[in-house]
Amino acid sequence: PQRLPFANAPDSDYAQAEIRDRAWQTVSQVRQQLGQSYQPWINGEFVSTQGTAQSLNPSNPDEVVGTVGLISIEQADEAVATAKAAFTAWRQTPVAERAGILRKAAELMEQRRHELNAWMVLEVGKPLRECDGEVSEAIDFCRYYASEMERLQEETAYDIPGETNRYHYQPRGISLIISPWNFPLAIPTGMTVASLVAGNCTLLKPAEVSSVIAAQLAQILIEAGIPKGVFQFIPGKGSTVGAHLVKHPDVHMITFTGSQEVGCQIYRDAAGLQPGQKHLKRVIAEMGGKNGIIIDESADLDQAVAGVVQSAFGYSGQKCSACSRVIVLESVYETFVERLTEAVRSLNVGDASKPGTQVGPVIDGKAQQRIREYIAQGKQEGTVAVELASPQPGYFVGPIVITEVAPDATIAQEEIFGPVLAVLKVANFDDALRVANGTNYALTGGIYSRTPSHIDRAQVEFEVGNLYVNRGITGAIVSRQPFGGFKLSGVGSKAGGPDYLLQFLEPRTVTENI
Ligand code: SER
Repeated sequence: PQRLPFANAPDSDYAQAEIRDRAWQTVSQVRQQLGQSYQPWINGEFVSTQGTAQSLNPSNPDEVVGTVGLISIEQADEAVATAKAAFTAWRQTPVAERAGILRKAAELMEQRRHELNAWMVLEVGKPLRECDGEVSEAIDFCRYYASEMERLQEETAYDIPGETNRYHYQPRGISLIISPWNFPLAIPTGMTVASLVAGNCTLLKPAEVSSVIAAQLAQILIEAGIPKGVFQFIPGKGSTVGAHLVKHPDVHMITFTGSQEVGCQIYRDAAGLQPGQKHLKRVIAEMGGKNGIIIDESADLDQAVAGVVQSAFGYSGQKCSACSRVIVLESVYETFVERLTEAVRSLNVGDASKPGTQVGPVIDGKAQQRIREYIAQGKQEGTVAVELASPQPGYFVGPIVITEVAPDATIAQEEIFGPVLAVLKVANFDDALRVANGTNYALTGGIYSRTPSHIDRAQVEFEVGNLYVNRGITGAIVSRQPFGGFKLSGVGSKAGGPDYLLQFLEPRTVTENI
């Protein structure tokens, strides 16, 4: 597909003392604003709700970041009805105008970069630098999808003598977005603005634990001029309101990023035809990964150790792209494990709102518990090379490296979504590829090697959506590394890539006999 030139938003340059100081001052200022209430936005108004949820700071759960109103089933139905009413005007709104709203939203994010970073540090316990990259990604999604829609609005002519054939795209209708907490700004922004710019009326249901950041995103879209009914912010319980909306006969498509369990449930529920439903629903589901990095005998081990540590423990391993398996050829196994262990030992684990923290907490008590159970299991399945202590009082789990793990062990097969890294020893490169491909997932993968034939084989045989050679496997950049997987990692085409918007559009052909 044709590729447009695209300039990515630059991250903050924290090497400059002035920028660093301003960033940390903003964290202190935002801290003074914790504990406020946030309401859903339905049909152009903030609405009150019966239910609410509290969002806590995972580094220090005594701190209530905010209280968010949770919509009822009736309010969900009202949101769908008003979205339907707004659709006719929105689909006729010129693409330039729709794209203009996205560009305005990008500008507001740029202006509020430090604030957005601070909210993320405090609401999801993500260290500052990673939050900053996320703001850049959110800005990129707005600008990239705006220009993508401008590209796609051009109709294509397949004319022959005596007949015109025109191919064009129209929006699908009512679109539901169900977003995760681990990229609480970038992912909901990307999914929501793609849907909106394509001309769909869009409902955003964020993950409960990151609703305050989602509320900031809603505020930005409102200020950017999104018309009422076209975008609605509908925090609510996934198990009730989310499930109800997935089955709603007037919803045309669902875009989800989250766990495999929920993604598969949505796929199933969306497939059923409800009374009164006159279409089949489209589902885009980005789910998990059990991503591996292969280290062969020719790898630059310094580079490999740094890349593995960053990929495995960045944001405490809570990325679908994170590395959770390293597959090491036996000739370099011992040296690699030794160096990896030293590197992990030097990680600075602590409160995400403290400068210098490299690894923060995990998202909540439930996650902490689940990860601890996997660690207990892992200790039976392998040997602990290093396990760091967990600070108090947050939801911390010490990063841990478990070696001598068999390819079929639970911790080598199931997505843990935490700072747990399994190291697997293999005899040769054939085994490395076989083990790497031996899971249900196919999201990201990596190889450290200086052997051209190995790199060539990995490109063909390593079954992943995003393969990284001699670098870390997280942090895909919009329009540079379009991102997404296959097998049980997901269904749909890649975010930040040239096919993404097509999923939100219905193609049509008009033939005229002349
Ligand atoms: N796009 C993110 C990454 O590449 C994951 O969602 O890390």
